[in-house]
Amino acid sequence: MDARENVTGVERKVWDLIRELSSELKNVAENPVLEAILIAAKVLGVRKEDVVTKDIIVSEKEKSIIKELVEKRANGYPLHYILGEKEFMGLSFFVEEGVFIPRPETEELVEMALDLIKRYGLRVVADVGTGSGAIGVSIAKFSGAIVFATDISEKAVEVSLKNAKRHGVLDRFVVKRGRFLEPFEKDYEKIEMILSNPPYVKMSARLPQDVLFEPSEALFAGEDGLDFYREFFRRYSTEGKIVLMEIGEDQVEELKKIVPGAAFLKDTSGRYRFLHINRRSS
Ligand SMILES: C[S@@+](CC[C@H](N)C(=O)[O-])C[C@H]1O[C@@H](n2cnc3c(N)ncnc32)[C@H](O)[C@@H]1O
Repeated sequence: MDARENVTGVERKVWDLIRELSSELKNVAENPVLEAILIAAKVLGVRKEDVVTKDIIVSEKEKSIIKELVEKRANGYPLHYILGEKEFMGLSFFVEEGVFIPRPETEELVEMALDLIKRYGLRVVADVGTGSGAIGVSIAKFSGAIVFATDISEKAVEVSLKNAKRHGVLDRFVVKRGRFLEPFEKDYEKIEMILSNPPYVKMSARLPQDVLFEPSEALFAGEDGLDFYREFFRRYSTEGKIVLMEIGEDQVEELKKIVPGAAFLKDTSGRYRFLHINRRSS
């Protein structure tokens, strides 16, 4: 018998509960049943496949925890904060409140960076505003490069280190708290590539409810959303370096003025999403 079928204080089977609770998620979730399954799997400590295929029995206590979390989600709280993880580049990243949840479009930035690292044989890469470490840890994992990562948030430093440990790259992922590349100023010459998914949302933007639970310093960058780029390119020379940064799709014309000579690339959905500078000679 499966250990999960031996629960005491038996109330009901998990599938009945999911059917009942998923309807509460219809206003916030694209796939309410899937989200209810993921939350139940997390609470029960089983794989999501087991929730679907096994006749799992749920105790009163488990039921009340699942209900409470579904209610939290129904009020807009992000699913991945409840689950405590988010998949990025095929790796599972720890995430928690206070740290930005990595987005799928950023995987395209990492893929492009990995191609360039290979093509130019790059050894030292910077990740500015590392958050959970999604970009930097993935680069360290899938290339032989050393990553210098920064973030203004102490929580991001803590969580990115946990992720570097989880994915076995602690020896090549160095993270320090600080603005832009201030913590690595003396190593600036060594850095061959600079990557960043910085904050780029306008102060006045109306964002979906769940995004508002994410840290504001990860999202907003002044009145026009361009403060990070303005300050970064005012401070740092890109001579001899490759730079890839994520941007907002409507920021290209303004960014052309801030970063003359930069190229702008679209993501796979056809939206302008990346700023690219290549000032390496070979
Ligand atoms: C949009 S999040 C991106 C996090 C992660 N790179 C990702 O793609 O999932 C931006 C991150 O930049 C950090 N940040 C904002 N301004 C910064 C600055 N001036 N210097 C360093 N980090 C900064 C925020 O704390 C946040 O973790």
